[in-house]
Amino acid sequence: MRALVVGGGGREHAIAAELARAEATVLVASPNANPGLERLAAASIRSDLLDPAPVVEFARSQRAELAVIGPEAPLAAGFGDALRAAEVPVVGPDRAAARVETSKRFCRELLARHGISGGPKVTIVTDPGTLGAAVGSFPGPFVVKPAGLTSGKGVWVQGADFATPEEGAAYARTLLALPSGRDGVLLEEKLEGEEFSQMALVTDSGVYPLPAVQDYKRGLEGDRGGNTGGMGSYSQRDHLLPFLSTDARDRSLDLLRRVVAALRADGLPYRGVLYGGFMLTRDGPKLLECNARFGDPEGLNVLSLYEPGDFAELLMGVATGRVDPTLLSFRLRATVVQYVVPVGYGDRPAGGAELEVDAPSIDAAGVRLYYASVDAAGAGRVRLTASRGLALVGEASAIHEAHRRVEAALQFVRGTYYVRHDIGSQEDVRRRTEHMRTLLAPSAKASPLPLSVAAPDAPAESHGPPAQLLSE
Ligand code: AMP
Ligand code: GLY
Repeated sequence: MRALVVGGGGREHAIAAELARAEATVLVASPNANPGLERLAAASIRSDLLDPAPVVEFARSQRAELAVIGPEAPLAAGFGDALRAAEVPVVGPDRAAARVETSKRFCRELLARHGISGGPKVTIVTDPGTLGAAVGSFPGPFVVKPAGLTSGKGVWVQGADFATPEEGAAYARTLLALPSGRDGVLLEEKLEGEEFSQMALVTDSGVYPLPAVQDYKRGLEGDRGGNTGGMGSYSQRDHLLPFLSTDARDRSLDLLRRVVAALRADGLPYRGVLYGGFMLTRDGPKLLECNARFGDPEGLNVLSLYEPGDFAELLMGVATGRVDPTLLSFRLRATVVQYVVPVGYGDRPAGGAELEVDAPSIDAAGVRLYYASVDAAGAGRVRLTASRGLALVGEASAIHEAHRRVEAALQFVRGTYYVRHDIGSQEDVRRRTEHMRTLLAPSAKASPLPLSVAAPDAPAESHGPPAQLLSE
C-alpha cells in the first residue's frame, strides 16, 4: 500500500514507522526535514501544510492509496476535504468536522445543542462589555481559553497562570482584542482532578477505543511553567491508569460516542482519530477538549503498543468506513514517553542547540527514538528548533520500569536540552494517584462513582473488581 503521512513531528514519525513495519510504501508531506521521516520515505514533499493543492498533486503523482493527517493545522486547512475530493481515502475528518478541535466554541455549542452534559460550566464571551458580569458569574476559580486553535498554549488557569478574577478578565480582554478574538473567549469553571487522554479510532462501523494515557502539559518538572503541547506521557499495562477505573474510562468513551453521534446528526460524518482530553473529577470524567487526531505525545504511547498486525490495513479501514476489529490489538505493557526539548520550551525556547544522538545505543537499550522538529546536522547530530525535538519511548511491564529505561537511554543524547525527568516516575505517579485519592476521600462530597484508585503499576490481573472502592 502507498500511504501518505502529512506532518513532520514525533507523532508522524511514529505513524510512518508503524506503516513501514506493515510494509507500506511511505510518502511524506512535511514542513521540516525530519530525519526519521526522511529515512522512511520513498518520496517526500516539503509543504507548510496550509495549502492542500501541492500535497494533493503530490499524492496524485505518487499514486497514494491512503493519507493519514497528523497535526491539526492541515485538518483546519481542509486537507481532508481536498484529498477525499481527489479520491484518496483519508484518516482525519473534513474541515467542518475538525472544528470539534479547531474551534472550542463549536465544540461547546455542539455539546450544548445535543444535550451532552459532562463538561465544566462554560460561558462564551464575544463582547468585552459583558466580561465583568461573565467573570462574576463564576463563584470559584475559572479558566480562560481562546475560542480557536492554540496548541494548548493560550489556556490560562486561575491559581496557575493568573491569581485574581481581575487578572483573568484582563487576559480575556487581551485575547478579545486580537484578530483571532472575533470568535470570542471561553470562560470555564476550573475543575479539580487528574487529567487523562482517551483516544478512539472513529469510522462508520464504530468507535474503537485506544489505551488511556496521561499527558504532562506543563513545561517544567513538578507541573510548573506554562502549558505546552505536551512534554511526555505514560500509559499503564492494563490500558487504564493508576487512578482511572474501568467505569470512569467507559463513561469517557460514552461521551466520545455521543460527540460522534452529534456530529453525524448534524451532517458531519467522521473518519479519523477522536481524542478526548478529560479531567477525572469527584463527579466522574469531564470533557475539557476534543482533538481531531492522535495526541502528541499520547499517540506515541499507543502506537508503540500496536501488536505486529497490519497497521496500514487498520488505518485503511478507518479511512474507508469499516474497521476489522481483529486488527485492533495493543500489547498489555506500560509505556513512558519523554520529549527532549530546547531549554525554555513553552515560554522562551532557545532553538539552535546541536545534539549528539547515539541512535544505535538507544535502540540497543530497548527504547524507541522518534524525531520531531529537528534538522539533521550531520551523522548522529541534530539541531533543535523552537519546538519539541526528540521523543524517547520506554516500554515495560510497569510504568516505573518504563521510566527507568527512558532515563537510562537519555545518556545517549548529549548536548544542551531540557527534559522532564519526573514523567512516569514512581514518585510522580504516586503523587497523582494520591491527589485523586484525597479528592475522593470519604470526607469529601460522596461520589456516585465506584472509582478505583489502584496502586501505581497495579498488575493488569488486579483489574475486574476495582482494587479499592473509595466509597467504602
Ligand atoms: P485545553 O486546550 O482546553 O485542553 O486546555 C489546556 C489545559 O488547560 C488542559 O490540559 C488543562 O490542564 C487546563 N484546563 C483546561 N480547561 C480546564 C478546566 N475547565 N479546569 C481545569 N483545568 C483546565
Ligand atoms: N498532548 C496534547 C495534544 O496532542 O493536543
